[in-house]
Amino acid sequence: MFHRLYISASLYQGVFAEETEGIIVSKPAIPDEIKSAMIDVKHKIVILSGKGGVGKTTIATNIAMAFAKAGHSSGILDVDIYGPNVPKLLGLEGQHPEIDGEFIRPVPGPLNTKIMSMGFLLRHSDDAIAWRGPIVAKAIMQFLGNVRWGELDVLLVDLPPGTGDEILSILQMIPDIDGVVIVTTPQEVAVLDARRAIQLVQKMNVPLLGLIENMGKFVCPSCGESHMLFGEGAALKATQEFGLDHLGTLPLDPNIIALSDRGTPFVVEAPESQSSMKFLEIVKQLSLKIGLS
Ligand SMILES: Nc1ncnc2c1ncn2[C@@H]1O[C@H](COP(=O)(O)OP(=O)(O)OP(=O)(O)O)[C@@H](O)[C@H]1O
Ligand SMILES: [Mg+2]
Repeated sequence: MFHRLYISASLYQGVFAEETEGIIVSKPAIPDEIKSAMIDVKHKIVILSGKGGVGKTTIATNIAMAFAKAGHSSGILDVDIYGPNVPKLLGLEGQHPEIDGEFIRPVPGPLNTKIMSMGFLLRHSDDAIAWRGPIVAKAIMQFLGNVRWGELDVLLVDLPPGTGDEILSILQMIPDIDGVVIVTTPQEVAVLDARRAIQLVQKMNVPLLGLIENMGKFVCPSCGESHMLFGEGAALKATQEFGLDHLGTLPLDPNIIALSDRGTPFVVEAPESQSSMKFLEIVKQLSLKIGLS
């Protein structure tokens, strides 16, 4: 149950509001510039978590790479204004997109992917953005409208953590979202935030494609014993309660951390590993769900 009143949409033209069970979810019209920027992007999948640090960016980048490996043209839109980490994870730090008039061209990533991140627009990767709410909403709209994606089979959208105003703005401003993938770690507190994210998406009538549980089983490299460091059960319970598909559980894998820090996506660098196999399985399910053959 939400108790917040969203009025951010008064920033936009063509606003109307719809009241559902005590909350008002505003429905701004999507500006034509954003529609035309994404007109040749066939499918859009949004990665959302609620809690920070649960692996959204890792999952968004590796899913995009797994789509590319499966022969689909794919891209990543990193709309995390506070911590845009996609360039770091793909070894693209310091790159700047080509500017063509008032349009921005995505930066080429591994496996011919197209990458666009708020991070490319900062002078230094450790620059912080300290904008207030309305400025954030406007900046996001401009960003979404100015990137020329060209043709793409699938675009993965990586969001900042939380279920706040900017998340709402982004979900409202991306046309024809195929669905949202919820990411959580197994621990209760992360699942609690994931539940909020699920409810927000449901309220907005955006389809939910399923849930990925990240940082599940850890197999000790010395003794081979398995541990569930973040607990177990809470995420699966949430999927049952909300009627969500469980797309898979990814292990807590130290290699993922090492490769991410080196800027090499896991699915490309360690294709035979258990974690990569899991990503490929997840992408197969997502392809079926969005009708990408
Ligand atoms: N399955 C995993 N096993 C081990 N480490 C992981 C796994 N998934 C992600 N990580 C590590 O966890 C940290 C957080 O991951 P990531 O940045 O993808 O999370 P996030 O949800 O995008 O965070 P934020 O909310 O700050 O955007 C990173 O150091 C990443 O390498
Ligand atoms: Mg992130």
